[in-house]
Amino acid sequence: MSNRIISASILSADLSCLADQIKQAEAAGVDWIHVDVMDGAFVSTITMGPIMVEACRRITNLPIDVHLMINEPARHVSDFVKAGANNLTIHIENCPNVHRDLLQIKSLGCKAGIALNPGTPSTSVYSVLWEVDMVLVMGVNPGASGQTFISQTYEKISQIRSTLDRIKSNAAIEVDGGVNLENIKQLSDIGVDAFVAATAIFRSPRGIPAAVKSLKSALK
Ligand code: DX5
Ligand code: ZN
Repeated sequence: MSNRIISASILSADLSCLADQIKQAEAAGVDWIHVDVMDGAFVSTITMGPIMVEACRRITNLPIDVHLMINEPARHVSDFVKAGANNLTIHIENCPNVHRDLLQIKSLGCKAGIALNPGTPSTSVYSVLWEVDMVLVMGVNPGASGQTFISQTYEKISQIRSTLDRIKSNAAIEVDGGVNLENIKQLSDIGVDAFVAATAIFRSPRGIPAAVKSLKSALK
């Protein structure tokens, strides 16, 4: 992936005016809309499900980047695809049949991503790198927006970047959690293709359009 992607996480959006928030982000040039699905079990928080993806689908034609932080994700994959998801990312930590689950996602016409938490070593995803369109590296522990980026994530991203290059994979690296104006360029320089941002976009005191434009220009 040559062009860098900004994926706007609606976890920090004002849900009372979601359409307006997404339209502002889209007009300012975000590339994807990121939907954080949490089940109160894999992570303690409960957030949103397929009906939110379906609502986003009616608001925008941008790709919808769905991040499943839920147990037994395979049970829900087809509901998310029907709701309009374009990318479906599952976590390595709770997927004993991860290879099968990734193939299921792809068979439904979706891009398949594998995610790993800060405490999970990069090597844990190596055996499925051939099957994925994307590796989502968490820069914070999943469960909430607004946390501080964990600096050891740089090393993990570099390890995954060199492994993808070695096996000649075109899979993208997406970083999620704690991305902001201060770290986005360094993350890009070590090979991140897609940047998830919630707080840095939807909670920016300068407003959504200015926040998106600054992130994009930091990548130039
Ligand atoms: C965290 C979510 C992230 C989160 C990012 O569990 O997966 O997508 O919304 O929020 P920020 O950008 O505020 O760190
Ligand atoms: Zn996410």
